Amino acid sequence: NTIFVLNGPNLNLLGIREPETYGHATLADVEALCAKAAAQYGFTADCRQSNVEGELVNYIHEARTKAVGIIINAGAYSHTSIAIHDALVGVKVPTVEVHISNVYTREDFRHHSFTARAAFASLCGFGIEGYRLAISGLAAKLGKTSL
Ligand code: DQA
Repeated sequence: NTIFVLNGPNLNLLGIREPETYGHATLADVEALCAKAAAQYGFTADCRQSNVEGELVNYIHEARTKAVGIIINAGAYSHTSIAIHDALVGVKVPTVEVHISNVYTREDFRHHSFTARAAFASLCGFGIEGYRLAISGLAAKLGKTSL
């Protein structure tokens, strides 16, 4: 009952990076929130972060045999990476895409997401609360009720 929580490039700088856009919480805060939210549905959260596209592809491949679901914030790779899209489509693990900021009120280049096409649901603009909502939505999709 493991879910993978995958964070992409620059998300290791959460709390330091553009706090007016991404808030003051750190990646450690996000991962703690995810661990807690996952536990509420009987999931264990395996949280990973990488700034490297291929490493994220490898994590997604690993999820094929290790995870029942994926929560992914691929950062800027969401808007550019066909490789991450293809990995998600390839492994067929139910996936929710998360963005901390509301990408639709920002630059046009953030309005298209390759990862969104490979996810059954996508969430943005809720700040880090989006991760909790994504885990709750994934649990509902997998027929899990809150413990
Ligand atoms: C982001 C939005 C992306 O456009 C940006 O490149 C990020 C973070 C978000 O969580 O709001 O790195 O994915």
